Amino acid sequence: MHTTVLYMKDSYLRATSATIAEIGTEGSTTTVVLDQTVMYAQGGGQPSDRGMIRGKNGLLSVSHVSYNGGAIKHLGKLTGELHVGETVEVEVDWNVRYRNMQMHTAGHIVDLAIKHVAPEATAVDGVHGIGKKLHIEYSTLIEPRLLQTIQKETTALIEKNLPIHLEMVTRQQLDEKRIPLPFDLPKNKELRIMSIGDSTPMPDGGTQLHTTGESWPIIVTDIVRNNGHTFVQYTMQEPVKNVLKQKDERAMSESSLNIDDLAQSIEREAQHDVKVLSADQFQTTYLAKKGKLSHLMDELKTVSLEEKKSAGQRANALKHTLEALLLTYDSQKKNSEVIDMTIPGIQPKVGHVHPISQAMHEITRIFEKIGFIRVRYPEVDWEWYPFDSLNMPKDHPARDEWETFLVQSDYVHPILGKMVLTPHTSNGQVREMQRLHSTPPIRMINIARCYRRQADVTHTEMFHQFEGLVVDKGITIQHLKGTIDHFAREFYGPHATSRIRPFHFQFTEPSFEVDFSCSICDGTGKLNGDKCRFCKSGWHEVGGAGMVHPNVLKAGGIDPEQYTGFAFGWGIERTYTLREGLKLDDIRLLYSGDMRFLEQF
Ligand code: PHE
Repeated sequence: MHTTVLYMKDSYLRATSATIAEIGTEGSTTTVVLDQTVMYAQGGGQPSDRGMIRGKNGLLSVSHVSYNGGAIKHLGKLTGELHVGETVEVEVDWNVRYRNMQMHTAGHIVDLAIKHVAPEATAVDGVHGIGKKLHIEYSTLIEPRLLQTIQKETTALIEKNLPIHLEMVTRQQLDEKRIPLPFDLPKNKELRIMSIGDSTPMPDGGTQLHTTGESWPIIVTDIVRNNGHTFVQYTMQEPVKNVLKQKDERAMSESSLNIDDLAQSIEREAQHDVKVLSADQFQTTYLAKKGKLSHLMDELKTVSLEEKKSAGQRANALKHTLEALLLTYDSQKKNSEVIDMTIPGIQPKVGHVHPISQAMHEITRIFEKIGFIRVRYPEVDWEWYPFDSLNMPKDHPARDEWETFLVQSDYVHPILGKMVLTPHTSNGQVREMQRLHSTPPIRMINIARCYRRQADVTHTEMFHQFEGLVVDKGITIQHLKGTIDHFAREFYGPHATSRIRPFHFQFTEPSFEVDFSCSICDGTGKLNGDKCRFCKSGWHEVGGAGMVHPNVLKAGGIDPEQYTGFAFGWGIERTYTLREGLKLDDIRLLYSGDMRFLEQF
């Protein structure tokens, strides 16, 4: 015998006619098998329905329904007589069923929320109403700290009021749709799939609500781990009655409706307040002697005798809901207090040093190895240091070449002049002489930001220079050339070399421009028979150099008759991009903060 289960197709069907197929007894209990039924047989975590089977001369008050291999057995107390072949009316206890349905769908909602938050979570079992604690069991680990996120997602799914689709399928269709079976389904049972909104369908045989909005509020109370499995526990509170109200409007009387309305509005407020009030405030507002619950209890006294029972039940339900809400404070507290030391940390994104900073470190290292000392001097300096001390009187036209940013100020120092953003690192020359009390030997490497009023594809207003200064007895151009060549080899590779060409600077005499051999064509200017497109000539110009002008030594308090020195200075951006063989279409890229560009270096 196989009973057709009508609830599979319509969970909202409350009654049907049916024919009795078998009758039996188990002790004092009568068992009835029908050809079809609306009553849910216990299984899949959902408790069995209760209800009534009414025949012409008898009534079975059904307290349990079991699956029994497809011949669904209704068990209960019989009054009067029922006979095989007789047509009977079957009616489900709707209140019990609706509650079970809510709990069952709630499990699916929480499960979907978890899948959104932790996609790898795999559910293996669930208890949605049998026993006290509602939970879903996962074979994977879910981090307890996700509780609040899961709660939020659950509430969001409910608020979206998503439709729940049910579809009867054959095993073959199930395979075709590639729906994974989380557990072995009984072979002879009718198969059905359910999905919430547009989520992936899953096999399910229980009763389901039409929409997620009917199942609320759900409170995720705890995430417990045991033997590698995770149990996500949740509670279903008494749902707000407006949905029930539509369905059971006729069944409800005037006054209990009032109680109902009141209970409903208190519940709404509580749902809101639980998010904003402290636990104490919540307790006082809702559960204390003069709280809203006791106000509702007072109203109960006005209800007529026959409605007292249902109104009392509603009030009681509200009490449970309020208490459950109060409990969430505890579970939140528990969650924020407990530190789970086994949770893997969140790996911070590992960055790297900016290419220009990398170049600065390398340059420093190269010069420190041959006895230079790295120094830093102000980026905002008196104009005397970058100009006057360097043999450039106030009105000297060469000062225009540096297009300097002036700091706005009424104060002008009688000797040092105005404040400027240093346009080159040469401001460090006399500063270094002063630092060493005008006493050579000096071997300085000064790396700093410089500023000039120029911004185009080859210039940024802010850039970097490094400046070398050597002052001692008997320093000649050979020392200068040797030092530059050394740097070229260290920085660009063993084949690299440099050349110096005559030039003019106010602060060096003689002065040179410095070129490095091209690292792409090795200084030949030719690449595969063609002109090297990178340098065109075999050389790249990088900066200036020269023998320190006697006036500069004097400005630093050093006797030019005893000491000589050399200085060089050039841009880091250019020095660096040349080595990388980078023809940057726009040098500003270096400072754009664009990770796609910077991650390459
Ligand atoms: N300071 C010069 C510039 O910015 C370069 C330089 C430095 C020239 C040291 C000679 C000596 O162009």
